[in-house]
Amino acid sequence: PILPVILAGGSGTRLWPVSRDSLPKQFQMLTGSHTLFQQTLKRVSDRALFAAPLVLTHEDFRFFARRQAQEIGIEATVALEPVRRDSGPALIAAALIAQRLAGEGALVLALAADHAVLDPELFIDACRAAARAAREGQIVTFGITPVEPSTAYGYIRPGEPSGESGARKVEAFVEKPDATTAARYLGEGYLWNSGNFLFPAALLIEEAERFEPAMVAAVREAVELSGEDLGFIRLDAKAFGAATPKSIDYAVMERTSRAAVIEGRFRWSDIGSWDALRALEPGDAAGNVVHGPATLLDTRNSFVHTDGPLVATVGLDNVSVIATDDAVLVMPSDRSQDVKALVARLKAEN
Ligand code: GDD
Ligand code: MG
Repeated sequence: PILPVILAGGSGTRLWPVSRDSLPKQFQMLTGSHTLFQQTLKRVSDRALFAAPLVLTHEDFRFFARRQAQEIGIEATVALEPVRRDSGPALIAAALIAQRLAGEGALVLALAADHAVLDPELFIDACRAAARAAREGQIVTFGITPVEPSTAYGYIRPGEPSGESGARKVEAFVEKPDATTAARYLGEGYLWNSGNFLFPAALLIEEAERFEPAMVAAVREAVELSGEDLGFIRLDAKAFGAATPKSIDYAVMERTSRAAVIEGRFRWSDIGSWDALRALEPGDAAGNVVHGPATLLDTRNSFVHTDGPLVATVGLDNVSVIATDDAVLVMPSDRSQDVKALVARLKAEN
């Protein structure tokens, strides 16, 4: 079976005021009746295909991770990072722990914890194809057809077909290019990197060792010195802290020649903004999307998301209202990319 590894240690600010440093978006209920983390666990819950998952997260989130898994009846191994070092060190630690759990030959499916996948069956089809390509000795990415020159994604240039799986070689991987470059890539057939990867644990470690030997040494020590505490695996703080913070995209994916890409046919969103969340749903006859208690009068093309307070609107068009117990955000819907700057301002002023 494939060992799913859920990376759930990121901090999201673009979905403020719901997503906070203290409780980032993966642990929030944003769409449907489960949190994004729970939806991710459910996506890989077919035990004929997937082993019980391994979750990597920051120690501050340990009880959210465990409780949310238990709530949906999923047994997960939870490993804790004492400090944030981005996804590179986290994924290397995951690969090393995967080998302990499932043997040297472990095959890992690394998943972001904060994405929406609207066609779970097509996602599973892509995983089966990716597993075949991974067994042929590759780090497999899932390519998404781009729809805009976003600078928030990695871009993949697919090359020659590779093996029997339908995968193609990755000719180039460029993480978060600038807007001009991204626009050019759109015309050149590049794909977005979905941020999920399927690979033999040993191969990821080998490639990371080639490009980031000091990082791997620090993480290896952190895993060797890790202890068990209340059922959590705790990485050694001093050793893990010595790893340079870097995402797996910069640390390995941009540099390796062992990457392949499977084109994902599933509808996918990384919910990078309130606008992206709203776009997951068609909306009612007036074009409104409403989450939570709200009364809308003469309101069109608007989005209301409330964690509790009743929201009432009159005469709005194209406005987003996000309400929580202690903060309310109101903006024209097309300004949702600016929430990041807003949060920076809030932090500076408060
Ligand atoms: N455990 C752990 N520890 N998880 C982390 C950490 C960490 O220090 N940092 C980030 N993560 C998790 C996040 O929670 C998320 O699930 C995943 O790793 C990806 O991290 P992001 O910080 O969200 O990355 P990104 O969105 O900027 O870019 C990645 O995803 C894009 C698609 O959404 C890249 O892989 C891009 O190439 C890709 O296009
Ligand atoms: Mg992300």
